[in-house]
Amino acid sequence: MSLAADERAMADLFVTPVAACIADSDMFSAPLFVEEEAYIRKAVPARRREYSAGRAAARKALAKAGGAIGPIIADPDRSPRWPASFCGSITHCEGFCSAVVARSDDASGVGFDAEEAKPLGGDLYHLVCRPNDLVHFRALPHIDGVDWPKLAFSAKESFYKCYYPGTRSFLGFREVSVFFSVKAGGAREGGFSIVLENKVKPMPRHAADFIGRWMADGERIYTGVTLPRS
Ligand SMILES: CC(C)(COP(=O)(O)OP(=O)(O)OC[C@H]1O[C@@H](n2cnc3c(N)ncnc32)[C@H](O)[C@@H]1OP(=O)(O)O)[C@@H](O)C(=O)NCCC(=O)NCCS
Repeated sequence: MSLAADERAMADLFVTPVAACIADSDMFSAPLFVEEEAYIRKAVPARRREYSAGRAAARKALAKAGGAIGPIIADPDRSPRWPASFCGSITHCEGFCSAVVARSDDASGVGFDAEEAKPLGGDLYHLVCRPNDLVHFRALPHIDGVDWPKLAFSAKESFYKCYYPGTRSFLGFREVSVFFSVKAGGAREGGFSIVLENKVKPMPRHAADFIGRWMADGERIYTGVTLPRS
């Protein structure tokens, strides 16, 4: 697939319009704004490279969405501060970095995550999945390149990235359940919904308002969550 087609595939993970950018190799050494430099000053080279790629991809996506170019600084909790009238999300994993940006007229929040397709390690399995997640996965079909616990890890991270900026509330993986659907016709893509199991945690909108989509390409899995504007 071409880069443009891959970026369209990333944008299709969201139910409202988003601009997507996948970082090319140059973006991993892209220059940073002074404010961004200050944030990453003490980081090891690998972290600096992924951070630079994320900022460069975010700026390109922001420009495509009609936003102005400027620093995208992070709060102390690491969440990026998007310019007024926009929201977005950044993800990186081995050999891949991408960002999506939506206009606030379309979405109140977006969350985006990519992971290597390899299965979730046994030690993480029970930290990420609730017993009811595991029962649900047993009812799902086998799909090459899709490990349901790994997809749950990604789906919950995407949900968190969408949920957090509006609540500033931390959520552990076992505080939410995820329910996947699979697109008919054998495609490696589908949807998902999230249930917030810890009812003490804030939920500003109904959980069903957070709409998840997933896809897999054999190399990686990708998830996106949209909170459409109410
Ligand atoms: C932040 C987190 C979700 C993803 O981080 P990661 O494993 O490094 O994965 P990714 O590369 O896909 O995403 C990192 C990017 O997410 C963004 N991010 C970090 N914290 C965020 C937050 N609280 N809200 C929204 N976005 C956030 C940042 O842009 C970050 O990249 P950057 O530091 O280069 O800017 C994860 O580290 C974390 O803290 N998880 C615990 C909470 C959780 O996931 N709960 C799930 C149950 S709902």
